[in-house]
Amino acid sequence: MADLVKLTIDGREVQAPPGTLVIDAAKTAGIEIPAFCYYEGFSLAAACRMCLVEVEKMPKMMTACTLPVAEGMVVKTDTPAVAAARKGTLEFLLTNHPLDCPVCDKGGECELQDMVFRYGAGESRYLETKIHTPEKQYSPVVFFDAPRCILCFRCIRACNEGMGVGALGVVFRGAVSEIAPNVGDHLECDECGACIDICPVGALTSGTYRYKTRPWEMTHVGTICTHCGDGCKTTLGTRNDRIIRGNNRDHSGINGEFLCVKGRYAFDFYDHGDRLQTPLARVNGKLEEVSWSQALEVVAKGFKKTLAGGGSFGVIGSNHTSNEENFYLQKFAREVLRTNHIDHHRTGDVVALVDALSGKTGTLATVSDLYERKAVLVLGADLALEHPLLSYQVRANFRHHQAHVYAISAGTVREDKYAVASVRVGTPAPPSDPSRFAHPQGEATAADYFGALEQLRDRLKAESELVVLFDDSFKGGDVHKLVEFGESLGIPVKYIALVDYSNSRGAIDMGLTPELLPGYKPSGQTGLTVDEMVAADLAALWVVGANPYKSGAARQAGFLVVQDMFLTETAALADVVLPAASAYEKNGTVTNVTGEVQRLKRAVNTMGAKPDLEIMGFIAREMGAAAALGPWLPDVVFEEIRKTVRGYEIPMPVIATGGAAHTTPVNGRVPVELRPDLVRSDHNGLFASGTLGRYSRVLHKVVESRLSR
Ligand code: SF4
Ligand code: SF4
Ligand code: SF4
Ligand code: FES
Repeated sequence: MADLVKLTIDGREVQAPPGTLVIDAAKTAGIEIPAFCYYEGFSLAAACRMCLVEVEKMPKMMTACTLPVAEGMVVKTDTPAVAAARKGTLEFLLTNHPLDCPVCDKGGECELQDMVFRYGAGESRYLETKIHTPEKQYSPVVFFDAPRCILCFRCIRACNEGMGVGALGVVFRGAVSEIAPNVGDHLECDECGACIDICPVGALTSGTYRYKTRPWEMTHVGTICTHCGDGCKTTLGTRNDRIIRGNNRDHSGINGEFLCVKGRYAFDFYDHGDRLQTPLARVNGKLEEVSWSQALEVVAKGFKKTLAGGGSFGVIGSNHTSNEENFYLQKFAREVLRTNHIDHHRTGDVVALVDALSGKTGTLATVSDLYERKAVLVLGADLALEHPLLSYQVRANFRHHQAHVYAISAGTVREDKYAVASVRVGTPAPPSDPSRFAHPQGEATAADYFGALEQLRDRLKAESELVVLFDDSFKGGDVHKLVEFGESLGIPVKYIALVDYSNSRGAIDMGLTPELLPGYKPSGQTGLTVDEMVAADLAALWVVGANPYKSGAARQAGFLVVQDMFLTETAALADVVLPAASAYEKNGTVTNVTGEVQRLKRAVNTMGAKPDLEIMGFIAREMGAAAALGPWLPDVVFEEIRKTVRGYEIPMPVIATGGAAHTTPVNGRVPVELRPDLVRSDHNGLFASGTLGRYSRVLHKVVESRLSR
């Protein structure tokens, strides 16, 4: 490491690496220099002049946000001249500012308010009429109030650099400058809300949150987004048992401040009018509302009758339910219902990857690897649409560390903009494809990908390390071949098998497949897969949080029990439907696409619905089987998982304090016969996520969701 630079700030000796900005060096010494336009991680704008400091031997005050430290530099941040400069800057910023703080969404969380409180003048000398322009709506979720804007340009940089979208710009000049959207009068973008989040004032506001509450009236609950496999932490602002806002308030978690449109806004499925609130049971051929005790009695009787008669059970689990629920469900199936017909919709071949990496340690990448490693290779997926956080991390790695990014896919992807090499394979999407929000509809085979990999072999070999992400274009033997290719490069390579949903990975880890028990232990038994169970003449089929009859297949099972939030195609066919809680209404853990376990925390209660774990526990109790399964409390089941599932011996304090603990599944062969054809990704884009996406009003409202259909 280069020698540290020594300087003095407010009489304190400070040491910092060369190139450090004075504003950051001061922070390490506990000295705050106020700033608006400066934002760590984005390019410098020097637009606001709030960070002016005195520097010895410099004729004028300097902006601490653009000034690198120098040996022997003497900086003063606490002089009468600096105080006057700050006050002057604030006075200028307030000349046209409407001072509508009592009704502004940002009130209480506004950086301008805070700065004026600390450094500003108590009264204004500006008596002229303020320039006023009416508020504008740029999209269903983005509103812009120009008079409140302090022209710090954070929003433009967040969108350009952070999101790689570049949908915002500035029009006009001087006091009438305005932040403008990319398509005429509206936005066509990712609708991620990052611009709103980063705005230091209330100039950009959210269509879903504006004028609903004051920030201090909410309870803030840190939990995990339930839409895709990336596992972003989201802070849900709740009031009176309702979710009012989603953001990542304290910037903690694997995603820092990032959230995509789904994490920030699409929690709204939870209070959709179609949510099931009462159990339903089929009476004279029709589903009718019944009490919980009646419904549980029917289920328990049906299950016991099937057991007594030696009938066959099928159990279909979910990609969204928690690890505890998945673990309990497979235990219930195997130990109480005595069936190995248990499966879920597999969206990526994690099992083949774990098997192929047998004997190699440290080869499963984490989300932070995508930010830290020197080179990243994306195979197949359009990361920006299908795995927004992973894509964000790769972009940040390129911006901050000049990472070498390689993209091989059938259609164009956002990574093309900065990749050192982009290779198109197979048949690309038709050029008439009207939207850049749709998943590239191109087709490519694994052979196409391997051909492209050979083309890139020498360049990849020259890298010092690599992270490889692959989607369901690679399964079974092709995953092994891919790992062999990685090995042949002679450099350290880590992998990520992309899976679709919030607990797709946890469903595999917890043994929701016939072939494997929790922790990738072979079950040694055969069992029916999802499609086979749907088509089979089973005596009883129990579906928890999945919709296997979505395609319209006819029901075959003699007795069908469904736990779900909505009356899905599957639930509509059931004998008993039990209303289930969403991820935002329960406690537990989920495992993201990179195998990192994080805690779900209940934010609200929804009338009538119960967490799937509780429902299963009640069924067990009703059947007299509760003792065999143990308590259905999330913490107790998680403790059992930590003790018995290989790879899940993770430290409790990490989970309990809202951190992410990386699991290390197995390090040995997984000797089972797997069916690659069962691995099918849904390739959801930014504005879809299975059943949950179907019931999100926001996702339907934004124009891009229509463009991408
Ligand atoms: S919502 Fe996201 S993508 Fe759209 S303008 Fe704001 S930052 Fe850019
Ligand atoms: S809208 Fe907000 S973030 Fe954008 S320039 Fe104005 S004050 Fe800054
Ligand atoms: S990237 Fe995935 S986990 Fe993160 S906010 Fe978006 S949908 Fe949720
Ligand atoms: S923070 Fe330095 S000029 Fe704005």
